[in-house]
Amino acid sequence: MIRQLLPAPVTISTSQALEEAYLHAAEEHLRTNFVSSIDGAVEIDGVSGPLGGQADRAAFSAMRAVCDVILVGAGTMRAENYGPVKMGEDRMARRASRGQAPLPRLAIVSKSGALDADAPLFASQPPVIVYTTSTGASRRDGLADVAEVVSAGDGEVGLKTVVSDLRSRGLGRILCEGGPSLFRALTREGLVDEICLTISPILAVDGRANSDSSGASVPVPLQLQAVLEGDGALLLRYRPLAGS
Ligand SMILES: NC(=O)c1ccc[n+]([C@@H]2O[C@H](COP(=O)([O-])OP(=O)(O)OC[C@H]3O[C@@H](n4cnc5c(N)ncnc54)[C@H](OP(=O)(O)O)[C@@H]3O)[C@@H](O)[C@H]2O)c1
Repeated sequence: MIRQLLPAPVTISTSQALEEAYLHAAEEHLRTNFVSSIDGAVEIDGVSGPLGGQADRAAFSAMRAVCDVILVGAGTMRAENYGPVKMGEDRMARRASRGQAPLPRLAIVSKSGALDADAPLFASQPPVIVYTTSTGASRRDGLADVAEVVSAGDGEVGLKTVVSDLRSRGLGRILCEGGPSLFRALTREGLVDEICLTISPILAVDGRANSDSSGASVPVPLQLQAVLEGDGALLLRYRPLAGS
């Protein structure tokens, strides 16, 4: 169960209701979504999965369900081993009723263009769009056989060009799933309309200082005690779960 505290307290008990909560305010809208531990970690042992609980996963899926395109940096694609987007029939039917394609498109930003053409996400149909530089686009390692490679700048990938190209394809509702480098660059360019942040009830601590005998991180789970809001700030009270 998910409770909306603001703007008005609402209990959201179905995936359809959660999707509706994330419907975009406009047909051209760039939303970023990321999850962080209490102490600001965006990954544990190189991936974000251990930070996201059930509610975060539900919101992640709802945001995917309402967007036209998922935009991801190459670092995240590599670290998270992205695959083709999948969705249930009910979600696809709701997308159709809103005039959207059955599945959102995937788009990757890579300055180098050094992407593995055998990576699972390149099985996507329609093909993944890869935005890169003119140098990246001229690489001859088979990427153009599995993806639509777009040169969006010479020395750098022009993110304004990326966003306007997506819009010109009718993919105006953009969901950026990371990672931090791409977030920062989009923010610097003033392209972000909305930031969705999940604060996970986990203290990541430091992987090395807080690791088990295998060297893997051992995050500390927390329990949420209270949520207060003031001047847009969320005041959260947590305590470590007993036995952790
Ligand atoms: N907590 C979360 O919600 C969350 C979300 C996403 C990712 N992550 C984590 O973040 C880590 C990856 O971080 P990251 O900063 O490396 O991710 P990233 O932004 O996805 O990837 C960086 C790479 O993407 C390309 N790129 C990004 N911005 C670019 C720009 N403005 N112009 C041209 N290319 C650009 C470059 O690719 P090339 O190297 O190919 O040139 C760059 O090396 C992973 O551990 C992942 O698990 C966490």
